[in-house]
Amino acid sequence: MQKLHAAITAVGGYVPKYRLTNAELETMMDTNDEWIQSRTGIKERRILKGEGKGSSDLAVEAVKVLLAKRKIDPTEIEMVICATTTPDMQFPATANVICDKAGMTRAWGYDVNAACSGFIYALTIGAQFIETGRHTKVLVIGVDKMSSIMNYEDRATSIIFGDGAGCVLLEPDAEGNGIIDSILRSDGKGRAFLHQKAGGSVKPATIETVMNKEHFVYQEGQAVFKFAVKNMAEVAAEIMERHKLTADDIAWLVPHQANKRIITATAERMNLPAEKVMVNIEKFGNTTNGTLPLCLWEWEGKLKKGDNVILAAFGGGFTWGSTYVKWAYDSE
Ligand code: UT7
Repeated sequence: MQKLHAAITAVGGYVPKYRLTNAELETMMDTNDEWIQSRTGIKERRILKGEGKGSSDLAVEAVKVLLAKRKIDPTEIEMVICATTTPDMQFPATANVICDKAGMTRAWGYDVNAACSGFIYALTIGAQFIETGRHTKVLVIGVDKMSSIMNYEDRATSIIFGDGAGCVLLEPDAEGNGIIDSILRSDGKGRAFLHQKAGGSVKPATIETVMNKEHFVYQEGQAVFKFAVKNMAEVAAEIMERHKLTADDIAWLVPHQANKRIITATAERMNLPAEKVMVNIEKFGNTTNGTLPLCLWEWEGKLKKGDNVILAAFGGGFTWGSTYVKWAYDSE
């Protein structure tokens, strides 16, 4: 009997309207368009404006796009896994808030926090519930409102991040398409180079932590860059080798969008030409958990049933990994 796979059967995405351009950043800090573009590939990023708006509001818009496209009622969704580093609140889980706001009243769910690798971690978890037959409709969301934890006085970090959300629907597939395999890794020693200093149980919020700007992303860019280039490229190459895939067999690489130079290094290690690599970092920057599903959302029309697609990510933790997907449908 053919093994039951979890197939991605629909994709949704959403980015907020406000465009924070490199030109505007030049008015906020000592930086320039040439530096940002040559070091990162980013021209602009989207920012969610408005009081009382959080990651769930971005995610709900992406979910609505997906449900409308697939003509699915929200009550048909059985489970929601939300990958985010910027939850609406410490608790409850943003997945619960999204279910409420989108009318997914029969779903249960929770959040996954694995920084920029969160989406492939969540995808791998969601796939298990389909493969075991426990559920038939699992929604996996990747979302971040990175602007909520950005210090716009820190020019080395704030220029790369943006806000955005994407989501995919997982359903059973008996034809051999879907999520075939994942290699997921982590190394907690990497926390020294990329973290948020205060607001957790180790260092709860005080007036001092706020005054010291310890509720923002702290990143030692060069150290993170070195690990990202090495590990994202290696894990993507490893999953190819495990499945005896050559560059010719691969239709698309879907890389985490942290820095154009990291993406290029990964593609080179896989021997992939640029035409097979999804890149939208110039428009959206690094939306953390949003990057991979936002790529799938933008490229959905070009993906064909049976395409071999490799997802790869690297992020805080450190966490990293790669997922091999056989695409399950032709877009209408
Ligand atoms: O998604 C999660 C994982 N995160 C990543 O993968 C990010 C990995 N890291 C990076 O992408 C890069 O390290 C950054 C884009 C964050 C920074 O680029 P970099 O080439 O590593 O720059 P740097 O921090 O080493 O700084 C080089 C120089 C410094 O000046 P000096 O000391 O050489 O005079 C910085 O002060 O560039 C300066 N600099 C800037 N200049 C203009 C740093 N940021 C800026 C800026 N504009 N925005």
